[in-house]
Amino acid sequence: MQSARSVIELKNVRKTFGSIEALANLNLSINSGEIYGLLGPNGAGKSTTVNIICGLLAPTAGSVTVAGFNVETHPLEAKQAIGAVPQELALYSELTVRQNLAFFGRLYGLHRSELEARIKRLLVMVRLEGRDRSIVGTLSGGMQRRLNIAAALLHKPAIVLMDEATVGLDPQNRANILEIVQSVAAGGAAVLYSTHYMDEVEQICGRIGIIDHGKLLVEGTLTDLRQQAGGKEVVTLRGSFDPVKAAAAFTLRPTEAIIKSSLEEIVLNLQGAEGRLTQLLSEAARAGDVREVSMNRQSLESLFIQLTGRDLRS
Ligand SMILES: Nc1ncnc2c1ncn2[C@@H]1O[C@H](COP(=O)(O)OP(=O)(O)OP(=O)(O)O)[C@@H](O)[C@H]1O
Ligand SMILES: [Mg+2]
Repeated sequence: MQSARSVIELKNVRKTFGSIEALANLNLSINSGEIYGLLGPNGAGKSTTVNIICGLLAPTAGSVTVAGFNVETHPLEAKQAIGAVPQELALYSELTVRQNLAFFGRLYGLHRSELEARIKRLLVMVRLEGRDRSIVGTLSGGMQRRLNIAAALLHKPAIVLMDEATVGLDPQNRANILEIVQSVAAGGAAVLYSTHYMDEVEQICGRIGIIDHGKLLVEGTLTDLRQQAGGKEVVTLRGSFDPVKAAAAFTLRPTEAIIKSSLEEIVLNLQGAEGRLTQLLSEAARAGDVREVSMNRQSLESLFIQLTGRDLRS
């Protein structure tokens, strides 16, 4: 479905690197004021998507439009509309916070008073007030990440692309960054937020797309995705198991499955597991020793595992 407010449009985008197909026929449409979560494991195609939208990579096929400008035919106009926060920090570590912001601001054509006002405003937003004279290399990882975000927002972009902006950060820094993302979207920007943290997309994203092997497997609101998970539960048994015995240990209904089986863990996708725990545990005992049981109802995680056969966190 296409909306009049859609400001990021990818149509049938394909990207190959030699024989690797990083993106296969990707379609995306993101609106102003929306935070769209692109969720996928390592190598899924998240950075390739972001890099194609911001013009760092050319698509092999298909078209990309941002704020109405095709990124290949109108690259300058498109770039001016975009603030991109790359996966790797893009800062001058030997310069101060202010010098970095001034540098990026000038790149976007901001002049003295406007630049000063934006720097002041953004330092508050990313909680770096009073640190403007600090040398970037001396800041904590979280501060550098927040500065990286500020650098992308100087020119008030209508489109903000964030690629794994919170990787490796502590919960407080992550929470700070999520707040920044929410305020950017509340100000009207369209945000593409790539991550492999499920809890982040659950927290801030209006719509979520699950990507793997360059394909969008499913897309929708959290409620939509939970419904697609089919009211099933994911039961995780931890302990020590024999995977060969595990394969035959459980009496499963046709729609149920063992979605992961290893020496330490058996993960089952079941319906109505709550009423069958005793039975499940005795069945599990045929495969080994159970030390811990957990159940996850209709979660995004269960859908993710169903769709990709993989666990995001492993
Ligand atoms: N410049 C490149 N040359 C060759 N292959 C590439 C290049 N960039 C990406 N790829 C491949 O394309 C696929 C998608 O990679 P991409 O970096 O987009 O994944 P990602 O979802 O961002 O992963 P991560 O979570 O690790 O950042 C991978 O198979 C990757 O190896
Ligand atoms: Mg990446």
